[in-house]
Amino acid sequence: MSDIRYIENLFTSENPLQKKIRESLKEHDLEGVQITSLQGQFICFLLSLMKATKIVEVGVLHGYSLSWILRAKLHEPKIWAFEKNEDHLKQAQKLLAAQDQSVEFILGDAKQELEKINAQGPFDFIFIDANKSGYPAYLKWAKKNIATGGVIALDNSLLNGQLLSPTPKERFKKLIEKIKACNEDLAKDPQFTSLIFPTPEGLTLAYKS
Ligand SMILES: C[S@@+](CC[C@H](N)C(=O)[O-])C[C@H]1O[C@@H](n2cnc3c(N)ncnc32)[C@H](O)[C@@H]1O
Repeated sequence: MSDIRYIENLFTSENPLQKKIRESLKEHDLEGVQITSLQGQFICFLLSLMKATKIVEVGVLHGYSLSWILRAKLHEPKIWAFEKNEDHLKQAQKLLAAQDQSVEFILGDAKQELEKINAQGPFDFIFIDANKSGYPAYLKWAKKNIATGGVIALDNSLLNGQLLSPTPKERFKKLIEKIKACNEDLAKDPQFTSLIFPTPEGLTLAYKS
């Protein structure tokens, strides 16, 4: 058994809702697009540690990462969840119906929609996991709207090995520049303590002090 499988088996067992979401992703041929259970447990751990209450997720799909956010032991959390694809959002709402009171689902392009919740911030945790070409805009918004003591997380910030590949696939070339610019922006910004957590996809984490 691999080390990762050992950790997953021991610490990241899925609850019935998460099993249902995984089934739904499989049925729609979307299995693997979501975060891993280990990333989910890591986010859940971080949110519990931070005692986050105001949380933003950009890129919901069928609600798998959201289900891990909802497993964190938080006092009256409020989550704003953005998704552009109507079918994905409807499926997430159906699956997460029982949790609806703490989640506000927002349909549309997050590049426009995020601005509409500015007045409700600042936010404790902003999780970005949508179209990679939008990351510079999402990061710009997140830096303006994160609370002091809050964390911005950018998933796929190593582009599954493409970011540093000497022979990246053609379709990744423009994205590589954009994602590198986001990582470098955070690395240089003295207001943030940042790193890329080395998951296969890469998870950039930035703490605002
Ligand atoms: C990688 S998936 C999200 C996976 C999800 N966070 C999880 O782990 O369960 C990316 C999602 O972002 C959505 N998306 C793409 N472009 C978007 C945009 N401009 N605004 C909001 N959502 C977008 C896609 O429709 C897709 O559902």
